[in-house]
Amino acid sequence: MSDPQIVINEVGLRDGLQSQPKHLSLDAREAMARALLATGIRHFEVGSFVSPKAVPQMAGTGELVARLSPPPGVAFSALVPNMKGYELARAAGVETVAVVVSATETMNRKNINMGLDETLAVAEAVIRRGRDEGARVQAYLAVAWECPFEGPTPASVVREQAQALAGYGADEIVIADTIGAANPAAVRALMDDLVADHGAQRLACHFHDTRAMGLANVYAAVESGVRRFDSSVGGLGGCPFAPGAKGNVATEDVVMLCESMGFDTGVDMPALLAAVAKVSELIGTPQGGRAHYWLSKNPDMNPGRNAA
Ligand code: COA
Ligand code: ZN
Repeated sequence: MSDPQIVINEVGLRDGLQSQPKHLSLDAREAMARALLATGIRHFEVGSFVSPKAVPQMAGTGELVARLSPPPGVAFSALVPNMKGYELARAAGVETVAVVVSATETMNRKNINMGLDETLAVAEAVIRRGRDEGARVQAYLAVAWECPFEGPTPASVVREQAQALAGYGADEIVIADTIGAANPAAVRALMDDLVADHGAQRLACHFHDTRAMGLANVYAAVESGVRRFDSSVGGLGGCPFAPGAKGNVATEDVVMLCESMGFDTGVDMPALLAAVAKVSELIGTPQGGRAHYWLSKNPDMNPGRNAA
């Protein structure tokens, strides 16, 4: 019997790059994407279709998609904040779009200049249209455990919003700890409830490692049955609109965690470490997750064989 699988959605090209003080050129983003495409990862968030005034780092995502066009078996997604973003993404040939609803009023205003009701209405319109037009639609629920402006997010609010997004027809609901404030007990409690509501196949989690609990939170969600995770090569990332948000949980750490627990991620660790090195070179500062040093000595992730 083959190992149970965990799907890695690599978000370094979007969440990873959008908050970098150094803005990568399109050539550099393409080089990063090509290094990542060699790792065996099959799901990528390649960028976003947002106002270039709001997030200049993501300008030219359409051109990036045109240069790369997803190889067979690989799926590209892009974040879209509104219908204009949806239209631009679809015109660029992106088949999976990600809409973002923040659980709180203030976070929506800071992020996309809309209140919660308006954000939900826009998300509904994009999700319904996406479904009609054969797109795959992911709905992100941001600040699902805590908001940098409004504090802890009640689980009942997240559950209600997830229900709404599912009702509009979202293919997948991604529960996001945007500022890295969740803890494993809170993750387990919320994800158990959401799995009961929607089934694990329709859910994914997105963690940041601000308080060093990113990997523990991934484990807690795995225990709840979640099998799809966002992560970012080298732990790159943050959110320019959420003060204090650090990088995403590092892809190489998540792969190591999952593989060592007997899951198959399909990721080639030496190729992933080469991608981390490429990103460090392009960004100009060393990147890497918590196990970077150990993994660089043990890229086959087999502690038994390498212990001697
Ligand atoms: N893609 C590109 N440009 C867009 C756009 C999109 N999806 N949506 C709006 N614009 C343009 C408008 O055409 C307008 O351009 P102009 O100034 O040249 O006329 C400008 O952006 C402002 O449009 P407006 O509708 O008034 O929006 P706003 O100023 O209220 O900003 C957003 C709203 C959503 C466009 C902006 O806040 C945004 O792009 N946010 C993205 C945030 C993000 O990526 N967060 C991180 C991920 S969670
Ligand atoms: Zn994020």
